[in-house]
Amino acid sequence: MGKLTVYANLKKGTINKNIYSHFSEHLGRCIYEGFWVGEDSPIPNTNGIRNDVVEALKKVKIPVLRWPGGCFADEYHWKDGIGPRENRKYMVNTHWGGVVENNHFGTHEFMELCRQLECDPYICGNVGSGTVQEMSEWVEYMTFDGESPMASLRKTNGRSEPWALKYFGVGNENWGCGGNMRVEYYADLYKHYQTYARNYGGNKLYKIACGPNTADYHWTEVMMREAGNLMDGLSLHYYTITGEKWPEWGSATEFGELEWFKLMKHTLYMEELVTKHSAIMDVYDPEKRVGLIVDEWGTWHQVEPGTNPGFLFQQNTIRDAVVAGINLNIFNNHCDRVQMANIAQIVNVLQALILTEGEKMLLTPTYHVFDLYKVHHDAKLLTAVLECGNYEFGGEKVPQMCVSASEDAKGVIHITLCNLNPNTASEMIFELPGLQIADVTGKLLSAETMTEHNTFEHPERVKPAEFSGIEMVASGFKAVIPKMSVVQLSIS
Ligand code: AHR
Repeated sequence: MGKLTVYANLKKGTINKNIYSHFSEHLGRCIYEGFWVGEDSPIPNTNGIRNDVVEALKKVKIPVLRWPGGCFADEYHWKDGIGPRENRKYMVNTHWGGVVENNHFGTHEFMELCRQLECDPYICGNVGSGTVQEMSEWVEYMTFDGESPMASLRKTNGRSEPWALKYFGVGNENWGCGGNMRVEYYADLYKHYQTYARNYGGNKLYKIACGPNTADYHWTEVMMREAGNLMDGLSLHYYTITGEKWPEWGSATEFGELEWFKLMKHTLYMEELVTKHSAIMDVYDPEKRVGLIVDEWGTWHQVEPGTNPGFLFQQNTIRDAVVAGINLNIFNNHCDRVQMANIAQIVNVLQALILTEGEKMLLTPTYHVFDLYKVHHDAKLLTAVLECGNYEFGGEKVPQMCVSASEDAKGVIHITLCNLNPNTASEMIFELPGLQIADVTGKLLSAETMTEHNTFEHPERVKPAEFSGIEMVASGFKAVIPKMSVVQLSIS
């Protein structure tokens, strides 16, 4: 029997709702087809953006959407994506499949998407192949209120008011696709570029510097030492793969327990990464002003057979759902430092929430995790002490359960649990010292087999159900957390 003790009087900070944010890149069918179908499409749309996808995403209350990349950001020239669409320059997307795109989705269309989604935009500027002037002018174009060259251009293109833009990235993966730089060089470039990304009027940018790849602690150290005072956030990218090293991807849907176990073990590594990068940040920023922004995370599998390898289109099973639940619990538990996280990517790419095929759309198991976990948005993190057994496989072990707990503004306590074991349920006792429990309700996301997923023919194979079997006992309550599941409990 496992045990979870939640101390409602021991609050550990606020879970920034931006931990539940997303990433959309000009990659494969994320922007084009996933969001943008154009005003003349037979697919129901508003100003060219498909209605079904927006409606589904509004239900999970997405806080922030990152765009236009990713690797694409460092070869994106924003002026090619404004003005009358028929006049926009075509470009080759050299990172992702070498496809030619028509730039019909640009700044105005992205801001319109954010308006429809009711989320904040997070724009990533081009350091790798763009100039300081280009970046500076983009910020002016979007945010300057009054008469200026860029504000006039914006007005000519049909938008008189500036947009509110808070989150701004100064390059992406500049240690790799964003220019293959040494951190010492990028730190100087960061300081240079960000100087001219101005705050106009009441618009105050939250500037995010390119952070480390996985366990590159030297990168974090140098960035914090050299430029910590000039940034608001430092990014971290870590993708979960089945294999031991990049790029040993496994199949998204055809796997056995070995691949299940490895994915669990590899995704738990996020705990160590966040802990160690945070410890370095603590040295330079003990006040924890600078956020760790995990703006790319999630599973990276082989592409679906027969699809363009450059499009990163993968299916999504209950295994991906458990991975999502684990990571979100980790971010919640580190909310003192993790101010934002953006799963990669929102539609049709990598660990997507939504898949589309023509006019059809389905919600993946990962979508349902974001739906269950939205109770944590801006809630107070509670101290939760977990005692549980291990899930063992092939002579290795990981903890069977992973958990986080919070209290929302109405005083309701929410617990999210993942059972990592695909074979065995976990009987748990829950204690909340000092609390009189009146009611416990729950929701469950699980499946009968490890590879269960939703298809366009069977879009509801994996979906949440009411969680039953809660038994009140003198010290709290008991429940059995099914094998390979994500459970959300609400206690009042
Ligand atoms: O999300 C796909 C790619 O992964 C992004 O473009 C890049 O930043 C990362 O390497």
